[in-house]
Amino acid sequence: MCGIVGYAGPIGGGAKEHSRPIEVVLEGLTRLEYRGYDSAGVAVLDGEGAHVVKRAGKIVNLKEALESEAVSESAVAIGHTRWATHGGPTNENAHPHIGGKQGKLALVHNGIIENFAHLKELLLAEGYEFHSQTDSEVAAHLVARAYDATGNLTTAMREVVSMLEGAFTLLAIHHDEPGTIVAARRNSPLVVGLGEGENFLGSDVAAFINYTSRAMEIGQDNIVTLTADSVDVIDFDGNPVTDSKRYEVEWDATAAQKGGYDSFMAKEIMEQSQAVADTLLGRSEDGKLQLDEMRIDEAVLRRIDKIVVVACGTAANAGEVVKYAIEHWCRIPVEVELAHEFRYRDPVVNEKTLVVAISQSGETMDTLMAVRHAQEQGAKVVAICNTRGSTIPRESDAALYLHVGPEIAVASTKAYLGQITACYLLGLYLAQVRGNLFPDEIAQKMHELQQIPGKIQQVLDGMDQVRDLARRMVDTQSVLFLGRHVGYPTAMEGALKLKEIAYIHAEGFAAGELKHGPIALVDEGQPVFVVVPSPRGRHSLHSKVVSNIQEVRARGALTLVIAEEGDNEVNQFADEVIRIPQTPVLFAPLLSIIPLQVFACELATAKGLDVDQPRNLAKSVTVE
Ligand code: G6P
Repeated sequence: MCGIVGYAGPIGGGAKEHSRPIEVVLEGLTRLEYRGYDSAGVAVLDGEGAHVVKRAGKIVNLKEALESEAVSESAVAIGHTRWATHGGPTNENAHPHIGGKQGKLALVHNGIIENFAHLKELLLAEGYEFHSQTDSEVAAHLVARAYDATGNLTTAMREVVSMLEGAFTLLAIHHDEPGTIVAARRNSPLVVGLGEGENFLGSDVAAFINYTSRAMEIGQDNIVTLTADSVDVIDFDGNPVTDSKRYEVEWDATAAQKGGYDSFMAKEIMEQSQAVADTLLGRSEDGKLQLDEMRIDEAVLRRIDKIVVVACGTAANAGEVVKYAIEHWCRIPVEVELAHEFRYRDPVVNEKTLVVAISQSGETMDTLMAVRHAQEQGAKVVAICNTRGSTIPRESDAALYLHVGPEIAVASTKAYLGQITACYLLGLYLAQVRGNLFPDEIAQKMHELQQIPGKIQQVLDGMDQVRDLARRMVDTQSVLFLGRHVGYPTAMEGALKLKEIAYIHAEGFAAGELKHGPIALVDEGQPVFVVVPSPRGRHSLHSKVVSNIQEVRARGALTLVIAEEGDNEVNQFADEVIRIPQTPVLFAPLLSIIPLQVFACELATAKGLDVDQPRNLAKSVTVE
């Protein structure tokens, strides 16, 4: 939710460097556009003060504006791409905001300043003028005002953060400190990129991956003072922070490019075989499962009597899938709860509860708050995340990373498969530690998991049928999805994909619930996807789902059936059969979701929609 970028280069760098700050910031904003695309803006310092160029709409509008507006030489630049919270998506509400009565400061903000109304009143009374409806402009004026009193941007920032309530990453530049950016973070993301004679700031490493792969994590309640050749970190009390973790980003800039595909989503779907292989890589040695990032004592894991998975969106659907496997392998009750619901009831959580927080970004505010709430009750938390250095794994007791590379499309695909795979690993690890499964059983399951990337590739290679189907169904108004057991969360995720990117009414149901209401929605021509379990598994489940297909078909539904190779029983009841390779029941969700992802992606593309940046959504929801 909102992307921010900062660049600090040498002062008076000369003609070649003249355009670099703006170029770097625009490039970074383009890579962070998935975080929000309501407006975009940049600020530099010129002879008089802060110079801001900003436009409502996508970054392309800002780029056009910059072609006609001369920007003077500056050592530093900051930029912002917005997902609107306070104030509509207008030019005025776009960031950066100018601060102070002389317009010497510019500031960008990601997050929400909860007490902004009160602070705004104080500033208005002192004669400060406001040009936007945002909470962020308050911070701009406050930092400028504190600068007037202290003459130091870092000190000014430190004074202001103590006045703010809520979540924020702030980046500020000031005319009187022309080579410096000062940034502060509380509950919103910020990472430093370390260059040669230049340094970078970003909401995540994608912001600067084109220029450097050396990154530095910035902790909660820290302030960074950045110049071309220095990075100084202090905490909100002014104490130096010397243990900020430095790391090498594993992926390079090409991973964050479309590489010939129409959309990032199309590309990320096609990367899923590799994604699952990468999540599995290096986890098992000598037949024994190793999870390097597990820092929770095995004795504690043996005492656990309940697992609670907290997550939002697609990550929550991943949790629903893995619940079946973890309960089956470990014989521990598993609850899956939307993080925002978990936090505001009174959940029974204690030191015997293991909370599993699933989040691609590691920054989803509701999930982060659920983690903190669980820890306050004494629970241990394992984070299942994709983004290194993000807040949720940093604050958790242990972390398991997906290693699926950057996911740019707002609708999650390869991270979903990575999340499910990582949770399977966690489940098997728990079963190993607690002695629920014998070593040879774990080795067998690991062997089966190792077969999955090849099977995913087989599914992907056969997707032309689904693409044709999607193009034929471009005018569809409503689609239903049915499944049982692990097919149920798959149905929900299939429906979510279609809603998110194709704006089509879609619902995922437990097929057993059909007769209790949803069947009333079925009439002539209603498309219904049905995820059919393997006939080799629990036979009754297969036959029950086959009955469900017949029930909706009898009422005129168009039946689109996802079934295992060799399951010919479904043929007579299906208008279309989409095949997936045979695989153990608990691992089938890694295959059966793929046709549903491809269907949504192709249909949205055929409708001419922006697949990667669907309306009203953002990739990472860092506000409540
Ligand atoms: C947003 C995104 C979804 C994502 C959800 C959770 O709603 O649009 O694609 O599943 O956030 O994100 P997380 O980063 O916590 O997995």
